[in-house]
Amino acid sequence: MKILILYYTQSKNTQKIASYMSEALNDFHEVDLCSIKQVQIEKISEYNCLFLGAPCHHSTLAKKMLKFMQNLPNLQNLPLVGFFTHSTAMPEVSEHYKKLYDEWAGNCQTAFETTAKDKNCNLIGTFHCQGSAIFPIELFIHSKIITDKEKWKDYKKELRTHPDESDQKKAQQFALRMVEAI
Ligand SMILES: Cc1cc2nc3c(=O)[nH]c(=O)nc-3n(C[C@H](O)[C@H](O)[C@H](O)COP(=O)(O)O)c2cc1C
Repeated sequence: MKILILYYTQSKNTQKIASYMSEALNDFHEVDLCSIKQVQIEKISEYNCLFLGAPCHHSTLAKKMLKFMQNLPNLQNLPLVGFFTHSTAMPEVSEHYKKLYDEWAGNCQTAFETTAKDKNCNLIGTFHCQGSAIFPIELFIHSKIITDKEKWKDYKKELRTHPDESDQKKAQQFALRMVEAI
């Protein structure tokens, strides 16, 4: 299969996930990996599957990715796989983190669903994991979301390790599963 993996990144977390997925798929498929800044949009129709990845910004996908997706042509039933990184904790950890995730990262999934509908493509699945945050975002999270000093200490320590080896493995298994499903 010919697979195109496109990503937008600011601090490389999402790029890492894109590279991990590309590595996993490369053994079995023809994979092109590139930033949305470099791709020629008209070439997308040459592929059998499109992966799109971006960081979460302000509770949804980063503006550059939203704009990129708006400018896509009709994708004529092309299978689409979405992925994103975020600094909110994973929702399955606790009910409290699920609430925070829904509030601070939940719209990323919706953005992929809307694109699939608008651009006539088939959203096969979406992957997400935590990604370390740049300093001003850490400050924001501490001042507005995880305000307790002790909790913040643990949160920050954990956040700074992502994406980690487990995220890598999960991203790679996910990518293989998605392509098998097509
Ligand atoms: C301007 C800005 C806004 C952000 N807003 C959110 C947010 O609303 N929710 C969240 O979970 N993470 C947020 N983050 C954290 C990023 O999603 C996270 O650090 C991500 O892994 C960065 O990916 P990148 O390294 O590919 O740019 C924000 C980061 C920036 C720079």
